[in-house]
Amino acid sequence: MQILSICNVRLKYPRAMRYVYNQVPFKIGHKMKNLKDIETIGIIGAGKLGEALIQGFLKSQIKGSKICIFEIDRDRSKYISEKYNVRCLDSVSAVVKESDLIIIAVKPIDVKTVAKQIGETITPGKIVLTFAAATPIEYISKYLPKNTPIIRGMPNLAVSVREGMTAIAHSENCSSEQVQAVIKILSLLGKVVQVNERYLNVVTALSGSGPAYIALIIDSLADAGVRFGLPKDISLLMATQTVLGGAKMLLESNQHPALLRDMVATPAGTTIEALLKLERGGFRAMLVDAVTAATKRAEQLERLNLLNKNDD
Ligand SMILES: NC(=O)c1ccc[n+]([C@@H]2O[C@H](COP(=O)([O-])OP(=O)(O)OC[C@H]3O[C@@H](n4cnc5c(N)ncnc54)[C@H](OP(=O)(O)O)[C@@H]3O)[C@@H](O)[C@H]2O)c1
Repeated sequence: MQILSICNVRLKYPRAMRYVYNQVPFKIGHKMKNLKDIETIGIIGAGKLGEALIQGFLKSQIKGSKICIFEIDRDRSKYISEKYNVRCLDSVSAVVKESDLIIIAVKPIDVKTVAKQIGETITPGKIVLTFAAATPIEYISKYLPKNTPIIRGMPNLAVSVREGMTAIAHSENCSSEQVQAVIKILSLLGKVVQVNERYLNVVTALSGSGPAYIALIIDSLADAGVRFGLPKDISLLMATQTVLGGAKMLLESNQHPALLRDMVATPAGTTIEALLKLERGGFRAMLVDAVTAATKRAEQLERLNLLNKNDD
């Protein structure tokens, strides 16, 4: 019998985040000693995030028969069922009945409809995990029976390759076993941190949207190669692998990024010229401003969601 282990790394600055949970290998189903309550995963909405979750779960050896989805777009549902061999059911309530963990992966505007449908069917013992941006636990809880364990998370699309970054916060109704069970499932898809819910807007702006910023940075670096004659595909590979390698070095060494920067920048060399150009151009401030703008937008959307909730 496989007993699940989880790697808890205490952070140096743990005010906002308590633990970082790394990927752990485990199978869901009959081999889960501690997680017998979560045997099936239901995903409502199989769009970009829903598909990325399916890809990640399947890569971590969860069987397609343990994953069921409801996707409102029939063509999309057919595509998902044919491509991934997961169970595509015909309603939210069917997914709720079949699943121990119900993941909401629809756009924020559709959460109310889905939450209401979940609320009509859910029975004790099931956990609701919502990934909708700017949609507080308080908003969703209104549509679910009192005492429903609700976890709000913010992943990113890298869950598809099991290198995701997910932050979660939970409602008071969750037992610590339920939170741990969800962390273990999500740890299959990358790293997981627990944060206070008030940080989820900046999480959305930083790591949730992060793959988009990285894509822009990679494309820009590749353009620079093209400018000097490198073919685009080779230039793209070099930029992408460099981002991956730099990130891996920092993660594995746990070093401050400034140390890596100094290691590369030889005195009177080439790198320092580029770094100065970036600093003069406001690169650092620009990234901070970009994440700030996205955070403010998430806060604005959250306020609108809460206002809408009060309209009911
Ligand atoms: N994409 C990301 O990088 C990312 C990262 C972190 C979190 N999120 C969050 O994840 C959620 C989904 O984002 P997404 O990018 O995956 O959006 P998406 O591609 O639009 O996927 C949502 C899917 O849900 C379907 N849907 C709508 N109403 C439904 C219902 N009542 N029942 C079942 N399915 C329904 C949509 O169909 P229709 O298109 O026909 O409406 C669509 O296929 C959002 O709340 C977002 O904030 C996304």
